[in-house]
Amino acid sequence: MKTPAIIDCDPGHDDVMAILLGARTMDIKGITTVFGNASLPLTTKNARFTVELADLRHIPIAAGHDRPLLRENNSADDGSRVHGKTGLDGPTIPEPTVPVLEEHAVDFIYRTAKETPNFHLVPVGPLTNIAVAIRRYPDLADYVTAISLMGGSTTFGNVTAAAEFNIWADAEAAHVVFTSGIPIKMLGLNVTRQVNATPKYRKQIREMGSRTAVAVAEMLDFYSERLSRLFGLPGGSMHDPLAVIALTDPDILTFEPMHVAIELAGTHTYGMTVCDYRHRRADTGEPQGAPPNAEVAVAVNAERFWERFLDVLQSYP
Ligand code: RIB
Ligand code: CA
Repeated sequence: MKTPAIIDCDPGHDDVMAILLGARTMDIKGITTVFGNASLPLTTKNARFTVELADLRHIPIAAGHDRPLLRENNSADDGSRVHGKTGLDGPTIPEPTVPVLEEHAVDFIYRTAKETPNFHLVPVGPLTNIAVAIRRYPDLADYVTAISLMGGSTTFGNVTAAAEFNIWADAEAAHVVFTSGIPIKMLGLNVTRQVNATPKYRKQIREMGSRTAVAVAEMLDFYSERLSRLFGLPGGSMHDPLAVIALTDPDILTFEPMHVAIELAGTHTYGMTVCDYRHRRADTGEPQGAPPNAEVAVAVNAERFWERFLDVLQSYP
């Protein structure tokens, strides 16, 4: 039985990989879009392009928030450094025809959660939609089994020395999510930066030859060139699909329970996920620090991720 979920995203090259992986390995009830890597109109257009490209038109799309809860929206500048002006530079993107629901993403999330047993949320962009859904619908937590999110880091940041982009783009929203009591799996940069689209994988993907695979190769070529130039990485990091893998193939990852606090006031650390390892006490030790509020990924088997991802990609037209 595939796990039912909504993917909340800001496509974004790696968001597209999460959609393609999730659509085959999960029961995706919908895609909701949020600002982040690009403006909301662009992330929504890119989500529509993705479902048309991969023959996933049956998956409804609802648009959400176009800015953070409180702060100025300065994420698209940073997003475009990595994802280009369209948010999905690389392939040619025709004007999509698939419709967007009239319903707001927040209402769509709540309605779907209420009518779907074992419902999960897979946010892979800024957490604004999720935070507003939690605040607007206080009983949402009763209908969400777990949240598997790409965001944060137990170590370094990418948008600042301390903060990862999805959390930094709306840290107040992340605080609402991490204090909601809903079970969380956190996939941070400390593991996602270990899974990169190197030339070997991009060649394998291009040689699949299908419409979807060739477009994915074009996306990953652009994305990899940017991340190699900006961060010296061997290829584009597959951040977002790991939030899907955490639910479909959890043994590819290693998790540790720990308390995660979101820094909202730090001059140098705003948006940092402060991960408390003090729970790692000796058997006889007293529990230290606040009780865990998340399962945080601390290791990943990158080879096994690629086996799974490439196998799924083969199935697309
Ligand atoms: O920091 C990586 C995250 O920021 C990914 O979700 C990527 O798509 C961007 O949104
Ligand atoms: Ca994303």
